[in-house]
Amino acid sequence: MFNKRIKIKELLAQEPTGQEVTVMGWVRTFRNNQFIALNDGSTNNNLQVVAGLGKFDDELLKRITTSASLKVTGAIVPSLGKGQKMDMNATSIEILGDSDAEKYPLQPKKHSLEFLREIAHLRFRTNTFGSVFRVRHSLAFAIHKFFNDKGFVYMHTPIITASDAEGAGEMFRVTTLPFDEKNEKTPRNEDGSINFKEDFFGRATNLTVSGQLEGELGATAFGEIYTFGPTFRAENSNTARHLAEFWMIEPEMAFCDLEDNANLAEEFIKYLIQYAMNNNREDLEFLAQRLSDEEKQLPQDKRSEMGLMEKLEFVLTNNFERLTYTEAIDILKESNHNKKKKFQYEITGWGMDLQSEHERFLVEKHFKKPVILTNYPAAIKSFYMRLNEDGKTVAAMDILAPGIGEIVGGSQREERLDKLEDRMKEMNIPAEELWWYMDTRRFGTVPHAGFGLGFERMVQFVTGMTNIRDVIAFPRTPKSAEF
Ligand code: 4AD
Ligand code: MG
Repeated sequence: MFNKRIKIKELLAQEPTGQEVTVMGWVRTFRNNQFIALNDGSTNNNLQVVAGLGKFDDELLKRITTSASLKVTGAIVPSLGKGQKMDMNATSIEILGDSDAEKYPLQPKKHSLEFLREIAHLRFRTNTFGSVFRVRHSLAFAIHKFFNDKGFVYMHTPIITASDAEGAGEMFRVTTLPFDEKNEKTPRNEDGSINFKEDFFGRATNLTVSGQLEGELGATAFGEIYTFGPTFRAENSNTARHLAEFWMIEPEMAFCDLEDNANLAEEFIKYLIQYAMNNNREDLEFLAQRLSDEEKQLPQDKRSEMGLMEKLEFVLTNNFERLTYTEAIDILKESNHNKKKKFQYEITGWGMDLQSEHERFLVEKHFKKPVILTNYPAAIKSFYMRLNEDGKTVAAMDILAPGIGEIVGGSQREERLDKLEDRMKEMNIPAEELWWYMDTRRFGTVPHAGFGLGFERMVQFVTGMTNIRDVIAFPRTPKSAEF
């Protein structure tokens, strides 16, 4: 058996008593032809391996270069140096893989996040990305634990669909047709449009923008389900909070109204934060320090008022502010910010869609905590949201988080068939194609609700990373699909 190693994280938690162990990992640095900082990805903390002078031949020592991979066996003893409690006195060093230090793009110095994005295939080997992706893993695990403990059924909704769940037309086409304007082989209708009947699925299909519609089918059978999978949006938004491929968690609950929905979402977000604080403290403290260093470059008024740990603690211990869209518009209208014409997009009044600068004002300047905005005008929200008594707003909710903006979008669903049909007609959503969705309203319809949490935005919030491209392994954004 090859792998009889101990992970460095586990080893560092032990007391150094001379125990003999084997570790494997990648060289971070090699000093004085003697001290190897070895990292195996289990923690940012390296094991200091001591290659005693005269014990190893020069040929071998020359091959101990940055990022070479090693298998090392030795005794664990108290460290004589400062900064670590133990050393490994190596008795055997085996080079598993050489690394040409001249060509290796990561040098033992600080690299910019922009540069690291260009070498995203290697950036996991840095402390920052080690921490970010261990936290991301933890949050993914916590999501399943949260819902499993509550008896929700994890539902795998399709990635290829024929419907547009959000009705926003931001879809990536999926096709096997020979596809270009002039191609004579492309099957066409008489009017020249593409004949998708000839396509693989016999109809036009796309990558899913949301698993919600199928999730509603699940909820109206199991009672409570959640999805957790990749979703795709062909929106041409080049911002620090948009991806073309992102992961979304979508719980859907039968017998549930907007308030129940908001309660669950708040509990869920707090649970995830608490989970990371309990299980990833070391990585979060590293990321908190990183963020504070990054912010030192900014002018005073652009810096956060709280450090990362403080912010997470604060969110845990305070209720989210809840208010209606109508109240939010009043606050924005009356704000000094608006009166001094500091918004780029003017507050035109009730009915307008909120821009992210407006959301951020509410969260970061006005309330200084997460906000749940409810009951938006029907005209600016999706077709499936439940019409309120007033006939002009819907039972929608968005959760806005400091530094992020919208982190959750959800609603109580329109469970009344006639009202749903009216709304779909108004918004030009083809009800015939969604016959299967409408069936849930025909056969034992129930009040139900759900929401979608953008996973990467949640990871951003917990890790304090300012660009969404740095919390997903291989970001897909307009004009960029490397790796
Ligand atoms: O508000 P959205 O579009 O809602 C839905 O998709 C509903 N079907 C959810 C539901 O009720 N089941 O998206 C939900 C969340 C947003 O609040 C945001 O956090 C995230 O998904 N999101 C994105 N994250 C990264 N990049 C993008 N382009 C995103 N678009 C939405
Ligand atoms: Mg939304």
